Amino acid sequence: MIVLGIESSCDETGAAAYCSKRGLVAHALHSQVDLHAVYGGVVPEIASRDHLRRLLPLVKQVLSEANVPRPDAIAYTAGPGLVGALMVGGGVASGLGLAWNCPVIAVHHMEGHLLAPMLEDAPPPFPFLALLVSGGHTMLIEVTGLGQYALLGTTLDDAVGEAFDKTAKLLGLGYPGGPALARLAEAGDDERYALPRPMVTRPGYDFSFSGLKTAVMLEVQKAERVGDLAARRADFAASFQRAAVDTLVTRTLKAARNKCLDRIVVAGGVGANRLLRTDMARRFDGDVYYPRMEFCTDNAAMIALAGMLRAKQARPAGEVRAQPRWSLETLVPPHVCQRT
Ligand code: KG4
Ligand code: ZN
Repeated sequence: MIVLGIESSCDETGAAAYCSKRGLVAHALHSQVDLHAVYGGVVPEIASRDHLRRLLPLVKQVLSEANVPRPDAIAYTAGPGLVGALMVGGGVASGLGLAWNCPVIAVHHMEGHLLAPMLEDAPPPFPFLALLVSGGHTMLIEVTGLGQYALLGTTLDDAVGEAFDKTAKLLGLGYPGGPALARLAEAGDDERYALPRPMVTRPGYDFSFSGLKTAVMLEVQKAERVGDLAARRADFAASFQRAAVDTLVTRTLKAARNKCLDRIVVAGGVGANRLLRTDMARRFDGDVYYPRMEFCTDNAAMIALAGMLRAKQARPAGEVRAQPRWSLETLVPPHVCQRT
């Protein structure tokens, strides 16, 4: 069986083919970063239009690379995300499903991220603790099986990726700021500024990043006043990254300890951060699993895989599902219900 995966929730257009016997057989991605960079952030209307332009050629490319004329099912990201962008992916999936007479599967984008480490050679067995860190989410989830997700903690304000992006903007780095900030941090002193580790001593597992962002802003303003900012940008980047990563790792280790989980999965765009990957592995006694770098950020391989695992929920093509807000906790195992 071959599942075609389609991703179009934000500013990456992706297509991939996953085979029940051979695993991932093809994947392709088009990044819209250049289109949005001039605006300093994602412009939803531009995102939708570009998905429309790029998606069908990418689908053609992966089917040709997978050497199959058509898939047996089509999985698409139905949410959460930008509604117009989601509708493009859903519309294409549904149209192709009607043309090819094959069923479609509506996939939750964050379930895709959560399952992405299963694309690797040594996939994490259940149960595990998942730290999902992206531009829109910061979540700690106790995962006991497919569709069995207990949310332990989330951010009370900014997502950690958002905090990386906003801090990067403050330091004059382009969009998207996370990877640029991480690169700049390599040349900086991460102890130069004493920044807060928000929430780490509070009970529970929630996060908060707006205080950290504000603390950096106040220090940056001070440096600006004394004409020191240019010389200190790398130190700001390194001190911020260190504080954000410390916070993520400390909260995650506490949850793993309390829930007696000896496996941690780190996924989502910020999972591409090298300091987070090395620190988590260094400080945790158990096993830490990540997707490869390119599958941390948005991609269709994870959607194709999630679709394959949820093949039982495939429905005849026809309706287009686009759900901009969609809680991961509402998902159920595939055998419990035919619809998510
Ligand atoms: O998962 P993703 O591609 O899209 C969402 O679903 O949000 O995550 C994008 C986020 C952005 O905030 C980006 O700045 C951040 O992930 N990011 C990073 C790194 N690479 C991507 N943040 C820190 N360090 C990185 N290396
Ligand atoms: Zn994502």
